[in-house]
Amino acid sequence: MPRPIIIAPSILSADFSELGAEIERIDAARCDWVHCDVMDGHFVPNITFGPDILKAVRPRTKKLFDVHLMIAPVDPYIEAFAKAGADLISLHVEAGPHAHRSLKLIRSLGKKAGIVLNPQTSETAIEHLLPFVDLVLVMTISPGFGGQTFESSLLEKIRRIGAMIGDRPVDLEIDGGCTPENAGAIAQAGANVLVAGSAVFKGGPTAYAANIAAIRQAAEDAVGLRA
Ligand code: DX5
Ligand code: ZN
Repeated sequence: MPRPIIIAPSILSADFSELGAEIERIDAARCDWVHCDVMDGHFVPNITFGPDILKAVRPRTKKLFDVHLMIAPVDPYIEAFAKAGADLISLHVEAGPHAHRSLKLIRSLGKKAGIVLNPQTSETAIEHLLPFVDLVLVMTISPGFGGQTFESSLLEKIRRIGAMIGDRPVDLEIDGGCTPENAGAIAQAGANVLVAGSAVFKGGPTAYAANIAAIRQAAEDAVGLRA
């Protein structure tokens, strides 16, 4: 039985001038998680927000805050994101030499831990980290910006990581360029958590529910999760 499909809108594509209201809207539009992209202008060539903003919007929903850290170094900020209300904190394996230590730190703070791979990073880089993670996130674009095109050559890597995870209680997430058109292939490759920024927020608030439902339906249909 495949794992349930989780749709995680990336608030990178939200209207930042009303971020709290946007989070309430995607919650009402039946998202599962809220994907929060933290960028430092150093690890990636863009800057977004830090723990204070997350803390300010945290009370707007009860849904899981999936915090994707695109920062280096990571360790000095993990506790601040945990205190700000992150439920799951993911860091890039490329962000430093001590991912193992960082993942254990996240778990010691009572949070779920995730490891992220850039498109060019082989799955062997995280093989020995699997006992220490609750989620593997495969980047299907180069991180830094929303609105890029899904790299379909990475479907095979998603498949290999799914096989590597096997029966472990580890979610497999993809991030970048997900749409209703490719969500089926993504789910078939073994991903169960689908991040989508532009495909959720396009068309404005009245379209959010239909946008989320379209991605969910395509993914669920592809893996036989709909009767
Ligand atoms: C990019 C971020 C993604 C991005 C996805 O670095 O990690 O979460 O916002 O946006 P779309 O779905 O538009 O590719
Ligand atoms: Zn992300």
